[in-house]
Amino acid sequence: MADEPRHLRWSLQDIPFDCVQRSAIADESDWFYLLAGASFVETLSDLYAQNLAEYYQDNQDAKSWLQGQWEHEEVQHGRALRAYVLAVWPDFDWETAYARFVAAYAPLCQTNALGPTPALEMAARCVVETGTASFYTMIQQASPEPVLRELAGRIRADEVLHYKYFFRFFRDYQAREGVSRWRLLRGLWQRIAEADMEDSFLAIRCAYEVRNPGQNFTPADFRAFRKRMAVWIRRHYPFEMAIKMLMKPVSLPPVLQRLLLPLLTRGARRAIT
Ligand SMILES: [Fe+2]
Ligand SMILES: [Fe+2]
Repeated sequence: MADEPRHLRWSLQDIPFDCVQRSAIADESDWFYLLAGASFVETLSDLYAQNLAEYYQDNQDAKSWLQGQWEHEEVQHGRALRAYVLAVWPDFDWETAYARFVAAYAPLCQTNALGPTPALEMAARCVVETGTASFYTMIQQASPEPVLRELAGRIRADEVLHYKYFFRFFRDYQAREGVSRWRLLRGLWQRIAEADMEDSFLAIRCAYEVRNPGQNFTPADFRAFRKRMAVWIRRHYPFEMAIKMLMKPVSLPPVLQRLLLPLLTRGARRAIT
């Protein structure tokens, strides 16, 4: 059971959902799938928070932040995205699609998938928050609709703060564990590779199959979707910001960092697009 939220920096009342300019976005089905999918993944954060709090049960500081703040903010992201999706696509049966997503994805989220050490798990959380911070930066920049831009900006700011918290916890554990740079790099790389989007695939599939009864969403459909996304990514993804955040836990010497940053940024841009 989560603690009472300490203080959320914004609430759903701050977002002018009744001012959404539907005509700017309603016909764009890629936006629908992207936002509906994100709303499912964020809403399920209570489960991830529970797993993480269990994993870090000996760390009172981390545990109480995870359950008293982080969980509530992530779930609020889910609620706000749900409200946005329903403001633009009011016929969508969100509850049914979300229930399908939970049934398919929840069994894959297990505490024993965390680790292998507390420091490495905190570094992995930094990867996840880098992913969300850069995702919402992209949404904010690519959005054809002003209310979505505003909402993405709020969520993005939360994700950047989450990263900072996880990074601080990482540093504390790292001071004790002294995980080598290579092991850290390997761990980070693994987490990035694993982000091969089991959750996004399932989330978008559930949204698709509820929106189009009787039709199946296949891995080939997902590949085509990702190919279309690559165009947005090339144009709007904050590569440099993401690489800087990813490399921070590895704490390379500044000279090496300055040398590597442009190379990695170019490499990532090429790999993704
Ligand atoms: Fe979030
Ligand atoms: Fe987050």
